[in-house]
Amino acid sequence: MAPKTIGILTGGGDCPGLNAVIRAAVRKGIMAYDYRFKGIQKGWKGMMECLWQPLDLDEVSGILPKGGTILGTSRTNPLKTADGADQVIENMKRMKLDALIAIGGDDTLSVANRLHQEGAAVVGVPKTIDNDLNMTDYTFGFDTAVNIVTEAIDRIHTTAESHNRVMVIEVMGRHSGWIATHAGIAGGADMILIPEKHYTMDDIVNSIKERHQRGKDFSIVVVAEGVMISSEKGEDLVVSKAGKDEFGHVKLGGVGQVVSEEIEKRTGFETRVTVLGHLQRGGTPTAFDRVLATRFGVAAIDLIHKGDYGKMVSLQGTQIVAIPISEAVGQLKMVGDDLYDIARIFFG
Ligand code: F6P
Repeated sequence: MAPKTIGILTGGGDCPGLNAVIRAAVRKGIMAYDYRFKGIQKGWKGMMECLWQPLDLDEVSGILPKGGTILGTSRTNPLKTADGADQVIENMKRMKLDALIAIGGDDTLSVANRLHQEGAAVVGVPKTIDNDLNMTDYTFGFDTAVNIVTEAIDRIHTTAESHNRVMVIEVMGRHSGWIATHAGIAGGADMILIPEKHYTMDDIVNSIKERHQRGKDFSIVVVAEGVMISSEKGEDLVVSKAGKDEFGHVKLGGVGQVVSEEIEKRTGFETRVTVLGHLQRGGTPTAFDRVLATRFGVAAIDLIHKGDYGKMVSLQGTQIVAIPISEAVGQLKMVGDDLYDIARIFFG
């Protein structure tokens, strides 16, 4: 029998550790099972347009510490059109793929789930620096982002203390505040604002005023980009650009500036904002993310070897397990009160 050919794609935002997954899957697939691999370029766009590159041991050598994805990525959504799923399945045949590994977050894996329902041989690997994918304790890339933000908070503390300023730090987190909460706790933030909670400007300002009345002369405020602040006009997201991507997401950015201006106006304390943006997603993965991504890559190829399709590899406790992709998608994993209440102890 001819060896199986496996396609691998990376979809959604890039994230440290993607290359580690690709390397691990290819390495185990070739060495243990004699598989062949095709790297699908630019996520689902590559499946719609048959864009692929060879993936052999040489191509995956040396990529472990490399950020981003050697395959490229996109936010293309094949399900935007009625026949998109059929087209992807047709192109799997055209590219002679026996199975496909889709590495991505809720959007990418929702497509994988639909393809599985249509009979395609697909497995999923969970990825998002936001860490908000359901049914896995952690996604790779998150630990790297948290370390980058924690270091930034430590550095920003210097100016906050020296100049007696309020320093607002805007971090990623479209729907959930995992990065803000973890990095905020690790960096000793005096306030952490996350999309899961509701705030008024009065709450924020009063907490800072109280802290300064206690004798503190600086504050660090960490704000997730997806936070909504209540006002008389209601609640709205702050967006940096009009329009939506193919999965219906607006382009966030700017809430840190809004919060910063209001704090300065209402407290009289000199305030500055730093937007960390794509710094959080760039560069080399931490050791934790390299190990997690490697374990995910190996587990994904083992699922294919068992013919266990429609599953996503997942970290539960210290174990890598397989769960139906359908259970992971459609509902995000949010920061719970158990964690946020710990962060809250240090507010004000
Ligand atoms: O989905 C991960 C994420 O990093 C979000 O935190 C952020 O809102 C978004 O991607 C940014 O996407 P882009 O790089 O396409 O602007």
